Amino acid sequence: MTLFDFFESVELPIPAITPEQARDIAENHFGMNAEITALGSQQDANFLLHGASGDPVGVLKIANPAFSLIELEAQDAAAAFIIAGEGIRTATNVEPEGVPPIAQIDSDEPLFARVITYLSGGTLDEDVYLSPVRAAALGDLAGRTCRALAAFDHAGVDRVLQWDLRHSIRTVELLAPHVTVTARRDAVESAVAAAWQVVADLADDLPVQVIHGDVTGDNVVCDPDGMPNGLIDFGDLTRSWTVSELAVAATSVLRHDGAEPATTLPAIAAFHAVRPLAPAEVEALWPLVVLRAAVLVVSGLQQTSIDADNAYATDSLANEWRTFERATLLPLDVMTAQIRHALGAARPEEPITADAPLIADLDPRDIVRLDLSVESDAIDAGAWLDTECEDHLADDAIGAGAAAVITTFGHTALTRSTTLSETSPATVATGVRLWPARSLTIVAPWSGTTESAETGEGVMLSVTGTTGTVQIRGKLLLDDSGRESVTAGNVLGTIEGPVWIHCLRHPHPGDSAVPDFVRPEYAAGWLDGVSDPAALFGLPPAPPLAEDSATLRHRRSLAFAEVQEHYYEHPPRIERGWREHLIATDGRVYLDMVNNVAAIGHGHPALADAVARQWRRLNTNSRFNYGVVAEFSERLAATLPDPLDTVFLVNSGSESDDLAVRLAMAATGRQDIVAVAEAYHGWTYLTDAISTSVADNPNALTTRPPWVHVVPSPNAFRGEHRGADASKYAPEAVAIIERLAAQGHPPAAFIAEPFYGNAGGLALPDGYLRAVYAAVRAAGGLAIADEVQVGYGRTGRWFWAFEQQDVIPDIVCVAKAMGNGQPLGAVITTREIAEAYRTQGYFFSSAGGSPVSCVVGLTVLDVIESERLQENALTVGDHLKARILELGNRHRLIGTVHGSGLYMGVELVRDRTTLEPAATETAAICERMRELGVIVQPTGDRSNVLKMKPPMCLTRESADFFVDMLDRVLSTGF
Ligand SMILES: Cc1ncc(COP(=O)(O)O)c(C=O)c1O
Repeated sequence: MTLFDFFESVELPIPAITPEQARDIAENHFGMNAEITALGSQQDANFLLHGASGDPVGVLKIANPAFSLIELEAQDAAAAFIIAGEGIRTATNVEPEGVPPIAQIDSDEPLFARVITYLSGGTLDEDVYLSPVRAAALGDLAGRTCRALAAFDHAGVDRVLQWDLRHSIRTVELLAPHVTVTARRDAVESAVAAAWQVVADLADDLPVQVIHGDVTGDNVVCDPDGMPNGLIDFGDLTRSWTVSELAVAATSVLRHDGAEPATTLPAIAAFHAVRPLAPAEVEALWPLVVLRAAVLVVSGLQQTSIDADNAYATDSLANEWRTFERATLLPLDVMTAQIRHALGAARPEEPITADAPLIADLDPRDIVRLDLSVESDAIDAGAWLDTECEDHLADDAIGAGAAAVITTFGHTALTRSTTLSETSPATVATGVRLWPARSLTIVAPWSGTTESAETGEGVMLSVTGTTGTVQIRGKLLLDDSGRESVTAGNVLGTIEGPVWIHCLRHPHPGDSAVPDFVRPEYAAGWLDGVSDPAALFGLPPAPPLAEDSATLRHRRSLAFAEVQEHYYEHPPRIERGWREHLIATDGRVYLDMVNNVAAIGHGHPALADAVARQWRRLNTNSRFNYGVVAEFSERLAATLPDPLDTVFLVNSGSESDDLAVRLAMAATGRQDIVAVAEAYHGWTYLTDAISTSVADNPNALTTRPPWVHVVPSPNAFRGEHRGADASKYAPEAVAIIERLAAQGHPPAAFIAEPFYGNAGGLALPDGYLRAVYAAVRAAGGLAIADEVQVGYGRTGRWFWAFEQQDVIPDIVCVAKAMGNGQPLGAVITTREIAEAYRTQGYFFSSAGGSPVSCVVGLTVLDVIESERLQENALTVGDHLKARILELGNRHRLIGTVHGSGLYMGVELVRDRTTLEPAATETAAICERMRELGVIVQPTGDRSNVLKMKPPMCLTRESADFFVDMLDRVLSTGF
């Protein structure tokens, strides 16, 4: 029996079978009476069979008549082999009693039909986002498939398919004429020629075995968490290079929303962990991805040309082009080096040295190296956003006596970072930039050839020797000798102004392909091919890079108690902040939507300056008599209504809540406290006792001491009483307080956040605090307002959140925003209640109210006022809320938007009627938002609320960026 050969029968229109005929085939040949839905395919006719209940009962596959029976039998055998070998779910033949598994349905033509089992779980929709864990699961599946099939053989596998990458060059040559746009055809042909050249040289070293050949999003089925764990469609089963299995899977990763070459790395690493790649396979992998992408393009075009009605092929075309563009985004050697790095290889460290110094009249000791890194102390506040920042810094160093100033090879330059962007900016330097204080003489560092050309950025001179090529670009004056061949030490011209210098590790005459800066995701790949040019004029190697985030996190886990958790599984290393931005060491700028503590913004110069001044002058404790403690206490008390006029200064929210409870106990001589469900008030013994949130402590509700009494969370969205019924929460709480009093346990205090931050930023029901405060006071207790996170103007409409409820508490606790991150907290109460503390002794906190803390507190109040941040919280907050509410019209996951000003919560639900919390979705959304440059986190007892409490200086543009990214994630997946 002859096996299929694509090059003998190039055109493969799918068998013309109507759904009616399909129904007859299912009934007549397999005894299955089923409803039929046509499925898409490149070359077979596939139909989904539904049983009486509507559930799928199998898939009817009518193979293209070009394929022989033995090929179909090989595919069925391979599926069974994989189940036995690796336990991977695969679709096998449904074999109703007495019916052969493969039926010839046309006596004139070799048209074969099978019914295979329907695997539940759905495929990986290629139009949407693929998370790194899902990409890794796909790579793992491809690796396990290869591992299982390594021992498989069959007479039906030696076919010649256009999908077998061993034939990719022939396939593209044959089908390229279908690419009618010349520029596109040229792009395909040149990419394929370069990729094939690499693969052909490696071919003898590439292991060969039977492979599935099509482990792609369309052909895997997923578990209930969306992780690929099953495999369908063995129609491309063939003997081929083993690594092709991975190349095909990696190419399919590129099809997903927002994917780029780096998106494939988790899949590649996961494959390698299961089926280690040999060195030749690593080298061949990306060229094979390019070849696969090219084959998909030309085959798609061919299919649509012969089968214009094949909607499946037509719809795929735009995606095939996009995949090809992504596959060819980077030079092959750069991506291959990046893959080597992802699989654990180190990049070459030793710099290339010169036979003669590249710059003759420059003493290395007179060169100043600019630190442009994220941690550089030379760059103050937001100065990097000034495009000429590098030039200013260089001018300063030259003014201070440097003969030349250079940047650092291989380091991140914060100066090349942008503000918010959904992809990382190109920040890693592949060479050095040099500013001369005077004209400097350029010398050939080695014997070889020179070339020069005018570029948009000045003259480019390159000198190529046997070890490498050095390129100098910028303000150069070249010797007019016109010679092309030089000896080490020959003078070539002078440097007259700023230049870029690159040193390529391999001779690249005429090649100017290395960008000055590359994105961190590809830095390892690019840097593999370049060396530190500073070594060519005698400078020691660049200082080592800051340790990466994973190494740092490991170090932290060894020394820092792990119960102090961190955000994200793989957190970026954040070392700088500016306004509402946080900046990672790779130069990525994130929008900080969670730091309510940094109320006036990160890195505020006024605060930094005030603190530095005060530290130089005095820092001591409040038992001394100094001005700022009085001034700050007056300012703080002045923000509150009478009779709240007496201030305690402490160091945190926990301390302020703890002190408030102790004051209440002291003032009333009682111990019982009434707290609200879902609350967090701190980590000290007392504040932990009154914290009821199960998100912070899963055992919270069962382990409260007997003196803590919990009233229901007054949640009008999802609590027991919703909407207008939320007015019932107040009488319920009042009844609990009255019952306590009647039972002889009248409470010392009722404590609550006056705007419910911890539950997700909910406003309390109207009149709630008025009624509950009245009840607790009637019972002789006090009302404590925990304004630790919601106070200080954040809610926009009110400076203190209790104003929203039109009440005046007896004790107010504040922290967080008050110090903008400096440990600072306060309790403000009446003189009488404050005096009650005397029954306990006297109050002292070593650092509470210190001069530095008071200066911080005063400066924060000044900035909130002078920069009108409360007003900003209102206008930007309203804009943000309106835009998210609009998203809610399009995305059903958005259950509601809680909050006011810049304290908001977007509550995500799976069903707007049952309000089933979308907790796993919320976590996944936060992960993808981080990839897109936004730091946002889940909150609430059900972890299904996106908490939004950014620095109060958030701009409208940043708010829009947040909403645009959320829209993108909700539209394209997470
Ligand atoms: C409402 C509330 N109270 C008190 C605290 C405790 O504050 P700190 O972490 O400063 O001790 C927090 C902290 O998250 C809080 O949200």
